[in-house]
Amino acid sequence: METRILICLVISTLVLTDFSEVVFAATFTSKLIHRFSDEVKEFRVSKNGGDKLLSSWPKRKSLDYYQLLVGNDYQRQNMKLGAEYQFLFPSQGSKTISFGDDFGWLHYTWIDIGTPNVSFLVALDAGSDLLWVPCDCIECAPLTATHYNSLDRDLSEYSPSESSTSKHVSCSNELCQLGSNCKNPKQPCPYIANYYSDNTSSSGLLVEDTLHLASSSGHASKSLVQAPVIIGCGRKQSGVFLDGVAPDGLMGLGLGDISILSSLAKAGLALNSFSMCFNDDDSGRIFFGDKGAASQKSTSFLPLDGKFDAYMVGVEGCCIGSSCLEQTEFQAQVDSGTSFTFLPKKVYGEVVAEFDKKINIKRSSYDGYPWEYCYKTSSEGLHKIPNLSLMFPHNNSFEVHNPVILIYVNEEVTGFCLAIQPSAINYGIIGQNFITGYRMVFDREKLKLRWSRSSCQDLSNEEGTPDQDKTENPLPTNEQQSTGGGKHAVAPAVAGKTTSNPSTASRQFMNKLQLPAQLSLLLLVTSLTFCILI
Ligand SMILES: *[C@@H]1O[C@H](CO)[C@@H](O)[C@H](O)[C@H]1NC(C)=O
Ligand SMILES: *[C@@H]1O[C@H](CO)[C@@H](O)[C@H](O)[C@H]1NC(C)=O
Ligand SMILES: *[C@@H]1O[C@H](CO)[C@@H](O)[C@H](O)[C@H]1NC(C)=O
Ligand SMILES: *[C@@H]1O[C@H](CO)[C@@H](O)[C@H](O)[C@H]1NC(C)=O
Repeated sequence: METRILICLVISTLVLTDFSEVVFAATFTSKLIHRFSDEVKEFRVSKNGGDKLLSSWPKRKSLDYYQLLVGNDYQRQNMKLGAEYQFLFPSQGSKTISFGDDFGWLHYTWIDIGTPNVSFLVALDAGSDLLWVPCDCIECAPLTATHYNSLDRDLSEYSPSESSTSKHVSCSNELCQLGSNCKNPKQPCPYIANYYSDNTSSSGLLVEDTLHLASSSGHASKSLVQAPVIIGCGRKQSGVFLDGVAPDGLMGLGLGDISILSSLAKAGLALNSFSMCFNDDDSGRIFFGDKGAASQKSTSFLPLDGKFDAYMVGVEGCCIGSSCLEQTEFQAQVDSGTSFTFLPKKVYGEVVAEFDKKINIKRSSYDGYPWEYCYKTSSEGLHKIPNLSLMFPHNNSFEVHNPVILIYVNEEVTGFCLAIQPSAINYGIIGQNFITGYRMVFDREKLKLRWSRSSCQDLSNEEGTPDQDKTENPLPTNEQQSTGGGKHAVAPAVAGKTTSNPSTASRQFMNKLQLPAQLSLLLLVTSLTFCILI
């Protein structure tokens, strides 16, 4: 099967039911205890903010209202002045967390939705557009904590009828892609989002409700911001969403107009840009409105079939150590919804051959691992791992912080694998393992990807302009990187997907390592004519 992931929206009678049943609203006071104690220590909900700005911010502004502003003078002025807030982040904090093999290797963050607010642990996916949460469930993943290793509290279900700030999105709304199929334009707008992973989808109704965010702008202390956004009331999920991946919802961070990022930008709340930064220890940060550090490098996003639907970039070549390889040009999608990187077959061949030559150790195979280039070595051998970098246009290099996965037996390093796989399609996917160690800025306004090395500081504590990233740290040594990254990095089920028999491969893999399937990426199909159901 192709690695192409499609999200498409098609009509379904199933989702046209009313959301009047099911009452569920809860607020939790207990905290998630992450398995790494550092994480727990650092997991602070931003409490030092005042409610000063909150009172000046109108509680209920509809998207329709904001849409009226687009294109008029107010909006132009707004854009010139920048946005109301320098950074926005979820009200519970900018921290992201990965639970390794639990929850399919993705990075997650807690968000609060509605009035009274309800918390959701949503997966961060730059490969799709819609924010959806389990809602008035017909078929949802188990939400009780006992189903998961990493949770100490139950997950929530959303119910628009329980939220005083929820509003129907009608079929006539321009963001309702299935609108033309509705019998009545006043009907609630249905949605179906299909993802690449086997038979994986979420469907339900679109609603508008408040997303609770926190802000910091220069010297101002943190304050709460209530942003009206479109949310998928996910009544019925399927595939990996019922099997441990994103059980409590998914935040699409793609380029589509329906993404929360578009809403924040249109409302003048944040610049149309965001950053994600992932650390080796599974912690990370997300900031809406972030344009990045002054010293960052950048490359332009590329259109795919004439449209900017995905975060596609053009790589001019790959370098292993000091050897830059001929004919290793390729296009790739940058995707936080894919754990490990894929390169087009030909480029993959060149890269692994050079890597193998430089490393000069005999290759080994590790049963159940999806990677072909693995080597047995003790931790002393790790210094032999050559650096790998991607060259972008205008000599903008991207040095991959940690391209290998360490293999541990009883806490001892016994080997490593080059964590890259051949892609079945003609472009690559730059996954989480390649973007770790960087503050990756997705500048949607300028259509550029920007990056700078970072250990994912809390930018909201910084005073000064967004152009200053004073505390940017250098990368740790190769040894530190590898040790940090390897511990939790066992292997993703997505890895099986490009083999000739994807489902068998991933099943074997899952049996062995007891992993849930990996949600992977991507492409938003904006028109029904391109819609392909997998
Ligand atoms: C969410 O609700 C709780 C309990 O009512 C409240 O303490 C908290 O401040 C609310 N959070 C936000 C972001 O409004
Ligand atoms: C996906 O759904 C189809 C049709 O319902 C089914 O035949 C197929 O076995 C499913 N695939 C997987 C991997 O579950
Ligand atoms: C990799 O790059 C770093 C800094 O860019 C350098 O210090 C290190 O020696 C390089 N490692 C190898 C094996 O070339
Ligand atoms: C890129 O770097 C190479 C070698 O450092 C240099 O020869 C070349 O002129 C540079 N190209 C650009 C566009 O700066």
